[in-house]
Amino acid sequence: MKITVVGAGNVGATCANCIAQKELANELIIVDIKDGLSEGKALDMWQTAPINYYDTRVKGVTNDYAATAGSEVVVITSGLPRKPGMSRDDLISINAGIVKSVTENVIAHSPDAIIIIVSNPLDVMTYAAFLTAKKARNKVFGMAGVLDTARYRAFLAEELNVSPKDIQALLMGGHGDTMVPLPRYTTVAGIPVTDLIEEEKLNAIIERTKFGGGELVNLMGTSAWYAPGAAAAQMVEAIVRDQKRIFPVCALLDGEYGMKDIFLGVPVVLGKNGIEKVIEVKLNKDEMELLEGSAVAVKSVMKVLDEMNIFA
Ligand code: LMR
Repeated sequence: MKITVVGAGNVGATCANCIAQKELANELIIVDIKDGLSEGKALDMWQTAPINYYDTRVKGVTNDYAATAGSEVVVITSGLPRKPGMSRDDLISINAGIVKSVTENVIAHSPDAIIIIVSNPLDVMTYAAFLTAKKARNKVFGMAGVLDTARYRAFLAEELNVSPKDIQALLMGGHGDTMVPLPRYTTVAGIPVTDLIEEEKLNAIIERTKFGGGELVNLMGTSAWYAPGAAAAQMVEAIVRDQKRIFPVCALLDGEYGMKDIFLGVPVVLGKNGIEKVIEVKLNKDEMELLEGSAVAVKSVMKVLDEMNIFA
């Protein structure tokens, strides 16, 4: 098994480190455009192998996509992170071209790879990679729901003073302020969360989740990396180990939830074929309205990408 992570910045390096520690591959390649960065991070990571006790051979290369040839899973984290005061959508003009050119290079050397997008604005960068890769929708999708759900679960665990392991939750929609955490599909060891927490507190947690990325940008002056990197690695694990995990993933919809031609976070089964099934959960009128509102927001940014005319 060979896996590539494109981008040796904070998110890419964290993701690669998680992949190595989980021993998901024999060979893990990290590519970056900046001379020496991925070589250095890969070397540093490889030197943790005797300590953290793994065999995965981690190698870094500068822009050498030939070294990534034959990768079965590729995680694309390339692009600029946002700064305080920016929305993820503000990154589209710079990151669209980057994601396009990276995807072209990836496909040229690993035509069969499953591609996971992490770059922002997430839903639309997944669309950009899909247009570039020209692959079936089960093989090009985006990471965000795993991250957003993790934030939601972490906040709930803190509030309830219970283990995050026992919080199960579903969150749908775009990876932006319109994302839709679903309390009706949130349980704590099987107990409906609404039985355990007051409505006001739950609503505050939902709001905090929606702006969870921005909270970290404001604290650190740049985007988060531990949870985004770990979330992408968890998706890689589900694919590589054919776990059939159910995760919210940014996927191209083809009639599900009454929507078509849009990339949106929905629950899917992830296994060796990538997205093996899109799950259609029953949403009530209010939940459906929120999901549709999120779809409108994502569509408007997809339109901006279309109008950039870079996919002739
Ligand atoms: C996140 O949610 O942490 C990422 O999308 C990065 C960001 O800018 O918020």
